Amino acid sequence: MTPRTPILDEDDAPALFAAQDLSVVFDTRRHGKRTRLRAVDDVSFALRQGETLAVVGESGSGKSTLARGALRLLPSAGGHLYLRGKEITGLRGRALREQRRGMQMVFQDPYSSLDPSSTVVNLVGEPLTVHDRLTGHARRRRVAELLDQVGLPPSAVDRYVHEFSGGQRQRIAIARAIAIDPALVVLDEAVSALDVSTQNQILELLAELQRRKDLSYLFISHNLAVVRWVADRTAVMYLGRFVEVGPSERVHHHPAHPYTRALLSAMPVPDPVVQKQRRRIVLAGDPPDPLDVVTGCPFRTRCPDAMDVCAVQAPEPAPVEGGGWAACHLVPLTGAASRPRTDVTPTMEEIPCRPASPAASSTTRST
Ligand SMILES: Nc1ncnc2c1ncn2[C@@H]1O[C@H](COP(=O)(O)OP(=O)(O)OP(=O)(O)O)[C@@H](O)[C@H]1O
Ligand SMILES: [Mg+2]
Repeated sequence: MTPRTPILDEDDAPALFAAQDLSVVFDTRRHGKRTRLRAVDDVSFALRQGETLAVVGESGSGKSTLARGALRLLPSAGGHLYLRGKEITGLRGRALREQRRGMQMVFQDPYSSLDPSSTVVNLVGEPLTVHDRLTGHARRRRVAELLDQVGLPPSAVDRYVHEFSGGQRQRIAIARAIAIDPALVVLDEAVSALDVSTQNQILELLAELQRRKDLSYLFISHNLAVVRWVADRTAVMYLGRFVEVGPSERVHHHPAHPYTRALLSAMPVPDPVVQKQRRRIVLAGDPPDPLDVVTGCPFRTRCPDAMDVCAVQAPEPAPVEGGGWAACHLVPLTGAASRPRTDVTPTMEEIPCRPASPAASSTTRST
């Protein structure tokens, strides 16, 4: 397929980062037979410089696999990746290493993602040695500067990682991630393991670093409440695909996809009166096994609004009033869709995500 490149924003500048039709496949076994699982299935998105895009979805929907595939930490089974307008999909060796410094990742659990027996200077300084060949005093000085930027004292330089609390460890992980001045930081549930007040402190730190360094964040989270405050746009992922993308406020207040509505309805509301009055949408059952074949819309087996057409035809992404799109047959019918713009290059929010299968009539999860 011919990629539509480079992806442009409203100013005709290349997106800071873009994934076009990205797929990631795992070889796995089922009933003793080898099979392939499409954990990420034709996902497209683009990020502006300084923008935060959140990815939300249930456990197993493919969020971490998407992040790793996007950063080339996992091989992709298809699609194209661009950093600052340059295609990085096929890069190898030194050329890939050079581009990788522009993209860093912070993981959920600072207890398992950071070696507890390492000193802070070695851990935060490692990327400085690998990418900038910085050693000795120069490296110590830079690590102390980075610690200051993440709110840790310079005396932390020589201490061991195991001496720090969860929140402090996450600050160390962030210092390491920003050490070599990346443009994109992927935060994979980076605050989920922390208590609420520590979470808020780390979110404030991330916001401040973003303002100061014009960083772009891909913010992966289960917590829709957090996402609403931190992300400019939110993408909702289901079974390896984006089903809705849009400005966070719009997605939060006017969700267009039944799955997004169900996720939001499961969110607790602080006001007990409002909480009591709310209609809770209970999804039937678990998501289908990703190895099973689901024809038509992948969400139809749990959708409270499923129609006959949903079983036979995968919905195309349809533009939603207020920005973004949703892949649901109901969206054009209920008038939630505005007319698609045909006059200009698609803007970042309108980058379409093709239906999952080559033939739009069925979605094949197992190949
Ligand atoms: N190394 C692997 N080999 C085989 N299957 C895998 C592998 N890693 C992930 N998967 C499968 O890929 C799918 C997506 O997993 P992934 O970890 O990306 O989900 P997630 O959305 O990040 O979930 P969580 O919210 O629990 O972190 C799941 O069905 C998972 O079982
Ligand atoms: Mg994950």
